Parts: sequence; structure tokens; C-alpha cells
Amino acid sequence: MKRAAIITSSDSGYRREREDLSGPAIREILEREGYQVVSMDILPDDRTMLGEKMTEIADNNLAELILTTGGTGFSQRDVMPEATEDIIERRVPGIPEAMRAYSMTITRRAMLSRATAGIRKKTLIINLPGSPRAVKESLEYIIGALGHGIEILTGEASDCARK
Ligand code: MTE
Repeated sequence: MKRAAIITSSDSGYRREREDLSGPAIREILEREGYQVVSMDILPDDRTMLGEKMTEIADNNLAELILTTGGTGFSQRDVMPEATEDIIERRVPGIPEAMRAYSMTITRRAMLSRATAGIRKKTLIINLPGSPRAVKESLEYIIGALGHGIEILTGEASDCARK
């Protein structure tokens, strides 16, 4: 079973002033798709703390997939893409490209997402936007392709021949 970790970037969520609805929305989709959710963390919009959490999960091989939510917009505190780029070893531009391309058929505001994705060791890390609706729209579009990528990453699959 593929293991997934969820990280929510939100100052108000971290202070428990705002309920995190996006983390649970991600969890629901992941579980429906057969992933085991191994952790859910709410962290402040802090580049260092976010980077350290992603590094801990990847370097200790705690999950094959990290999905983040929030912190991809234009607010001064939005630093999720920077935190991710600080710690990834290889970029995976096609995933955020696909999310934005699809999302722009729903709202032009999708172009305002600065989300990125990449690989550290054997963990794929993907930024999702912050709102539960945006999370669902983005994740439901990409999730079907992720399993194959993760299998190549972990060595479970060795070629891309389509079944
Ligand atoms: N993507 C989808 N599919 N649906 C949406 O409603 N909202 C956008 C964008 N991506 C949206 C979306 C908006 S309004 C913003 S500001 C950016 O995601 C960044 O969101 P964040 O700052 O909550 O991470």
C-alpha cells in the first residue's frame, strides 16, 4: 500500500483559530484511492519548518507521497513553493502544469497558484492550493497518474508500457 503524508500550511490553522478542512479533504480522496495516510500536520507558513517536515518524512522514508495544501498564493506569508524548492532534489513540473491547465477550465484564478512539485529521495512532493474546493478539483484530476510515477520512483515498476 502506498503511504501518503499531508501537510497543511496555515498560520491560523496552526494556532487552532481556523478549522483545517483541506487536510481532511485530501485524506478522503487518498483513502478512496487506496493510499494509507500516515500523518497529517498543520504547520505555520514558515519556510524553515515546512522544509524540515518534508525532509524528515522523505529522509526517513515515512511516505512515498507528500501532499501539501495552502501557502501557494501571493500573500506575503505564502511560502510553500519556496519551502518545497529548498529541499527537493529533482523538479516535476508536469504535475503543477497539469493541475493549472485543468483548473483554468474551471477558474482563471488557477493561474495565481504558484504550486510546485518535486522528488526528494524516494518521496514525491506536490503542492496543492489552499481551499478545500481547489484541493478536490486539483487532486482528483492528477491522482490517477501518480501511482505509476511512484512505482517507477520506488523501483516497483521499471517501464512505462501501458497495460
Ligand atoms: N485551483 C482550482 N482548481 N480551483 C480554485 O478555486 N483557486 C485559485 C488557485 N487554484 C483555485 C485553484 C486561487 S484563488 C489562488 S489564490 C491559488 O490557487 C492559490 O491558493 P492558496 O493561496 O490557497 O494556496
